[in-house]
Amino acid sequence: MSKIIVTGGCGYIGSHTCIALLAQGHEVVVFDDLSNATKESIDRIEKIAGKRPELCIVDLKNKNATSAAFEAHKEALAVIHFAAYKAVKESVDHPLQYYENNFFSLINTLTAQQKLGINNFIFSSSATVYGMPETCPVTEKSPVSTPFSPYGNTKKIAEEILKDHTAANLDFSVISLRYFNPIGAHESGEIGELPNGIPNNLMPYITQTAAGIREKLMVFGNDYPTKDGTAIRDYIHVMDLAEAHVVAVNRLVDQKQEQNFEIYNLGTGTGYSVLEVITAFETQNNLSINYEITARRDGDVPVVFASTELASKKLGWTAKRDLNSMVKSAWNWEKNYRKND
Ligand code: UFG
Repeated sequence: MSKIIVTGGCGYIGSHTCIALLAQGHEVVVFDDLSNATKESIDRIEKIAGKRPELCIVDLKNKNATSAAFEAHKEALAVIHFAAYKAVKESVDHPLQYYENNFFSLINTLTAQQKLGINNFIFSSSATVYGMPETCPVTEKSPVSTPFSPYGNTKKIAEEILKDHTAANLDFSVISLRYFNPIGAHESGEIGELPNGIPNNLMPYITQTAAGIREKLMVFGNDYPTKDGTAIRDYIHVMDLAEAHVVAVNRLVDQKQEQNFEIYNLGTGTGYSVLEVITAFETQNNLSINYEITARRDGDVPVVFASTELASKKLGWTAKRDLNSMVKSAWNWEKNYRKND
C-alpha cells in the first residue's frame, strides 16, 4: 500500500480522486487549507470509500507550514497537486492573488518534496494552455499559447517550472494532466461540484437553474461556426478524470515512466455543443431548462476537443463514461445536496 498526498483533496476533482485512490488500495493523506472546500468532504469520501483519508489543514503558501506537513508524512511515495485557485473571472479581477497562491503552493510543495526525497508528482493542468487551438483534435504537441486569463497563465507557467525542475533533477518525475472540461459527480450523489457564489461554468449553472437557484441559463453565443452555432467542448466525467490520476500515479510509483516529465490530455475526444449538453441534461433528467441565447463570452474559443491517443497508448487509459452519465450524475448530486434546503 502506497501513501499518496493529495493537495486540495477536499475540492471537486481532488475528492473524486481520493475515492479512486482508496478504491485501488492506496493510503491517502489530504493537505487542504479549506479556502474553497469544507472538511465535510472527508466524511463524504469515507462514506463512499469505507476508508477515511487523513486530513492535514495546511496553508501551502506558507513555506514552514508546508515543510512541517510533509515532514509528518515523509514516507509518502507521491503527491497529486490539486491545490490552486481556479476561477477564470476571479483571476482576471485579482491576478496577484492567483499568482501568489498557485505559485507559492507549487514551489513550497516541490521544495518540501525535494528535501524528503518524495520524487513523484502529478500536476493538475488544463487545456487552457492551448489558448485558441488552430486545429482539433488538440494533441500534446499542439502549440502552447498565451492563455486568456491569469488562471490559465498559472497553469502554463507551472508546467514551465516543472519542466525546468525535472531537467535539473533527473530522479524527480512529473506527469502533467491537461484536463478538458470535467463535469458530473460520483454516482452516489455524495460528492460533486460546489462552486462558490454564481457558477462560471456551464454544468453547475445548468444544475443550479434546474434546482431553481438561478432563474435562467445564458447561452453565450449561437453564431459560432459549429453545427448549431454554440461552442463545442470536450466534457469528461470527473470519475474518469479521477481514475486517470490513479493510473498516472501508479505509473510513477511503479517507475514505468519513459521520461521524467510527461504530459497527457485528459478528455474523451468527442466534442459537444452547449445546446447538445442542455438537451442531454433535459432528456436524461426529464426536466426542462430555462435558457436564453445571449452574446458570446469574451475569451471563449469556438471549438476545443482532445486527441486522446497518447493517454490511451502510454497510460492505457481512456474515458469510459458518456455524456448521459455525466449529466445524470451532475443532477443527482445537485438534488441530493439541496434536498434539505
Ligand atoms: N457557457 C454558457 N453559459 C454559461 C457558462 C458557460 O453558454 O453560463 C458555455 C461557454 O461559453 C462555453 C461552454 O459553455 O462554450 C463551456 O464553458 P465552461 O465555462 O464550462 O468551460 P470553459 O471551456 O470556458 O473552461 C474550462 C474550465 C477552465 C479551463 C478551460 C480550458 O472551466 O478552467 O476549460 O479550456 F481553463
